[in-house]
Amino acid sequence: RTLATIAPEIYGNFSEHLGRCIYGGLFVGENSSIPNVAGMRTEAVEALKKIKLPVLRWPGGCFADEYHWKDGIGPRETRKKMINTNWGGVTEDNSFGTHEFMELCRQIGCQPYINGNVGSGTVQEMAEWIEYLTFDGISPMADERGRNGQTSPWKLKYFGIGNENWGCGGNMTPEYYANEYRRYNTFVKNFSGNRIYRIACGANAGDLHWTEVVMRECARFMDGISLHYYTIPSGNWGKKGSATKFDENEYYATLSRTLYMNELIEKHGAIVKRYGGGRVKLLVDEWGTWYDVEPGTHPGFLYQQNTMRDALVASLNLDIFNRHADIVGMANLAQLCNVLQALILTDGEQMVLTPTYHVFDLYKHHQGGALLDSCVETDIGGTDEWRVPKISQSASKAEDGTVHLTVSNTTLTEEITVDCAVLGMTPSAVKAEIVTGAMADCNDFGTAAKVAAADYDGVTLTPDGCRIVMKPCSVVHVALLP
Ligand code: AHR
Repeated sequence: RTLATIAPEIYGNFSEHLGRCIYGGLFVGENSSIPNVAGMRTEAVEALKKIKLPVLRWPGGCFADEYHWKDGIGPRETRKKMINTNWGGVTEDNSFGTHEFMELCRQIGCQPYINGNVGSGTVQEMAEWIEYLTFDGISPMADERGRNGQTSPWKLKYFGIGNENWGCGGNMTPEYYANEYRRYNTFVKNFSGNRIYRIACGANAGDLHWTEVVMRECARFMDGISLHYYTIPSGNWGKKGSATKFDENEYYATLSRTLYMNELIEKHGAIVKRYGGGRVKLLVDEWGTWYDVEPGTHPGFLYQQNTMRDALVASLNLDIFNRHADIVGMANLAQLCNVLQALILTDGEQMVLTPTYHVFDLYKHHQGGALLDSCVETDIGGTDEWRVPKISQSASKAEDGTVHLTVSNTTLTEEITVDCAVLGMTPSAVKAEIVTGAMADCNDFGTAAKVAAADYDGVTLTPDGCRIVMKPCSVVHVALLP
């Protein structure tokens, strides 16, 4: 039974002007000795093409609400410098701006998702950004775009009207933001056949009141509303926990806390459906783990390592998003490179792909597939304090009839055999791949990768469907061929 189409955008990502995400990470500059095309790190672009990254959000985050886009166009030497007040108080030289971001998306082959400034920007500034990006004809902004080397307009679908306006984006009440949303949105025009998909700033985690008010006041003016939820092992922002040094209890605490995403999507999703009538979607445009920064790194740069624990966090969340494909229209892992639960880590010219990256590689087959109704009978594992289901799963059917299953074993010691009954299909063959390791295994610079996706022979066809031998702490993708 198919339930909904899994939006490819569920596999989206986020790149903010924060620490080394853009500068030194994705964008190394044309004059760098690191191989690049127009300044974009080639190895990163290739890796992102491989996982079919569908959409990339930029320029923030909190940075979005202090970003003035006109500072980031024109000759680089004359671009205005500013203070990145949210992230370390460092100088932002604006050498990566609108043209560079659109070029990065072009190279990756993903859709751009631009987040506008409501907190400290003007309505005029936002209106002109849209004109600059999308207007095809003679106008002040289109002319300026041409002078800056881009005569034809870009296509821009996703546009966010503010970010975390309940916090770093202006400390607004939902009532106040709702009015601001309506005003700013009015001047975000659809030019030259380009249709903007309008995204309202949504709630912080469990703040249902925010969603209720903004949906009540603005549903008819939007296409989507966001939700942000970060997984912090300790639940305490002051001392979040280490990315690499943790015990079993902390491992299960992290997984248990990440599963809260399911409840959040159901509760916020119910409100969105009530006011949005199925047209408006919930976009989880920031999610992932947030640990204490790696010792010795800048506290404002949010650099953290990434282990098999993060791989499991990724698979559990992606299963949740898949299973709620009727309401989740997009999700953006925070963040793409060198920040929080990154897909890519860099150190000068070196680059590693994290365990989370490899899970995205396994899950890419769900993009655009038809969500299949599926359920699992599983014991509950974990510790006395943190109870976690042993198995997580989601399933979809691709256009060519292949059924894709993703299954995770959250336990650290148990090999679990999953007998999988597949109704309405007799697979002709099976293929599988796995990401597995010890809970704190990670990929580091200068050493061979400990965690990678590998072909897996632990799956066999049975008269009912298939049998999957799940290693402890593992994520498996099974393709059942028609
Ligand atoms: O991803 C880091 C920060 O987390 C973002 O800038 C902000 O939106 C959120 O609080």
